[in-house]
Amino acid sequence: MNQNIERIEVFLDESKEPLQVLTNPPFKVKLDTLNIPDGPHTLRVVTVFKGGKMEENVVDFEVDNLPSPFIDGIDDGQQVRGVVEFDVLTGDYEAPKSKGRLTATLAVLSTIVVLGLIWAFFAFSGMSTSIVAANAVQTEESKPAAANADHGKELYAAQCASCHGAKAEGGFGPALAGNPMVGEADDFNKVVVQGRGSMPPFSNLSEQDLADLRAYLSSLGGKSDAGAAAAPAAPAASEADVATGKSVYSQQCAGCHGPNGEGGFGPALAGNPLLDKPEEFNKVTHEGRGSMPPFPQLEDDKLAAVRAFLKTK
Ligand code: HEC
Ligand code: HEC
Repeated sequence: MNQNIERIEVFLDESKEPLQVLTNPPFKVKLDTLNIPDGPHTLRVVTVFKGGKMEENVVDFEVDNLPSPFIDGIDDGQQVRGVVEFDVLTGDYEAPKSKGRLTATLAVLSTIVVLGLIWAFFAFSGMSTSIVAANAVQTEESKPAAANADHGKELYAAQCASCHGAKAEGGFGPALAGNPMVGEADDFNKVVVQGRGSMPPFSNLSEQDLADLRAYLSSLGGKSDAGAAAAPAAPAASEADVATGKSVYSQQCAGCHGPNGEGGFGPALAGNPLLDKPEEFNKVTHEGRGSMPPFPQLEDDKLAAVRAFLKTK
């Protein structure tokens, strides 16, 4: 069992600062290759076992950010681009049986998904801190004690827009404009500071930054009431739909798209813009695409239930 593993540290190139420290499975790492120069790089994965023993695995890879949307595998020496997400598998976490002494071996990088322009690495790196610092300098003199929506807007554009959309309409992450959580300071702050699912933590943000972000987001309108009023014809998903959707999803989709739609071998479906485009969503699911197999037998109402379930994620 991996209770033997105390933590896994992931380092990029010569860096002494770990890119990420993982303490619980699944050991997922996101790396934005758009933020590192093209050319050869090294990922060093250090597993620290209880009692202090360590093991090191090194993977060489090459970054080549030419414009092309998807790849879905990585091997030693392979070229990668965009943002790569992969699981670091440990001995007991579905590691390939062929890997020899599993408990001691950190098995390989397994599934890799390129998520277009999503830059979680950004959040893990020192860069986000320097951008916050830069913003802080710009607004320092005008910074009152009260929440400052302009400052929130800058923070949002620099740190959140890549995943939640330029106008907080949603993208890789769910819509934040009109999101009821914006009104719940404690919940909001917790998700942002600690991260959740595929959302990275932003522990560098101060209480003031968070208040500014909320001030900006609540100024965007699209309040939950307004949202409901804008789409009166669409019946709210019933709990039954969500339950059906969950069961279909868990059996047929979760293996590739993650138990909560957070992505895995296939892209994230939680917060995916296709959730609001039933025709396209159904088409991809019925016909398959790329490495995604077709599911012609799933009726439209089943897929509507799957979307209803994913929207709760
Ligand atoms: C790398 C992409 C990414 C970035 C950058 C990002 N988020 Fe998220 N965010 C997500 C995802 C994915 C979720 C859904 C998390 C889940 O599945 O539990 C999420 C969820 C949230 C939620 C919870 C929404 C809900 O309805 O439950 C809030 C609030 C939030 N993000 C705020 C922010 C703020 C503020 C920032 C900028 C400081 C930010 N996020 C940056 C990806 C991101
Ligand atoms: C065997 C793995 C696998 C399974 C099972 C799977 N998918 Fe996928 N799915 C993928 C991959 C890989 C892609 C990306 C396809 C591409 O490269 O164009 C994808 C793409 C999608 C997309 C398009 C997402 C986008 O942003 O363009 C949707 C929608 C989708 N899948 C829905 C589903 C649903 C619903 C199920 C269950 C009924 C499911 N998938 C089951 C692997 C899978």
